[in-house]
Amino acid sequence: MLKGIASDEELNKIRRSFEIIGDVVTIDIPDEVIHLKDEIIKAILKKHKRVKTILRKIGEVNGVFRIAKYEIIYGSETETIVKEHGCRFLVDPTKVYYSVKLSGERERIARLVKEGERILVMFAGVGPYAIVIAKLAKPSEVIGIELNPKAAEYFRENVRLNKVEDKVKVYEGDVRKLLPSIEGKFDRILMPSPYIAENFISTLKGKIEKEGMIHYYTFAGKEEENEILPKKVMGLFKEQGIDVKVENVKACGNYAPYIYRYVLDLRFVD
Ligand SMILES: C[S@@+](CC[C@H](N)C(=O)[O-])C[C@H]1O[C@@H](n2cnc3c(N)ncnc32)[C@H](O)[C@@H]1O
Repeated sequence: MLKGIASDEELNKIRRSFEIIGDVVTIDIPDEVIHLKDEIIKAILKKHKRVKTILRKIGEVNGVFRIAKYEIIYGSETETIVKEHGCRFLVDPTKVYYSVKLSGERERIARLVKEGERILVMFAGVGPYAIVIAKLAKPSEVIGIELNPKAAEYFRENVRLNKVEDKVKVYEGDVRKLLPSIEGKFDRILMPSPYIAENFISTLKGKIEKEGMIHYYTFAGKEEENEILPKKVMGLFKEQGIDVKVENVKACGNYAPYIYRYVLDLRFVD
């Protein structure tokens, strides 16, 4: 859409990918082409008529809460409602983590859930995994733990919005502190934070039912996918005295050139 307005060199610098979160757009516009900002805004608004706010990413996803830095380049309201698999999520990308790109993965997990399962979602964010599972499957209970107070607040609100109060319980705080006080074992545990999952393997001890499933998220290069990665992850669990069998390894999004986000579906053996 910017052909004829921007030079070929400038066009190459403009990242073509951006994310639409409800009626908020997040986009990466490099400094070298920031003079084209107004044209870029016009192009986005022409193609996506519902967009209310456009946020320019000015810092990478960072910190414990995994939030990127943004500046508002169009509009003012940063809170929005996203629709996903018949669910609605209230989010503000400037205050909490939420990624549209993982919606396919959430549906995949929900389709694996068998009736009556008790499920734990560590690092639950605003609740997309927990709520999609509660809506698309028939678990007996889904517990989500989230550290960021603002994300936990949205999570509680999203549980109400989606009318899953009878199934989904929100725990606000650190997995390390809260999990030991939650009684009983789980049939399925999700660890959807590739940056930190490795540091939380030890917290799973005594918390997973025999033959239960663990969905472990991590970053790795494509060349590690078939042998190195499954071996490495089994080794990390073994170090903590947890025996798992790798049933599936799947890329679910790329993170940087040649680095992918992987999910490993692990069967707890002992
Ligand atoms: C990459 S985000 C994933 C959020 C959510 N699973 C999703 O996909 O939308 C990781 C989340 O883990 C939370 N977090 C980080 N450390 C935590 C901890 N020790 N206990 C609980 N949550 C934590 C962060 O606040 C953040 O919301």
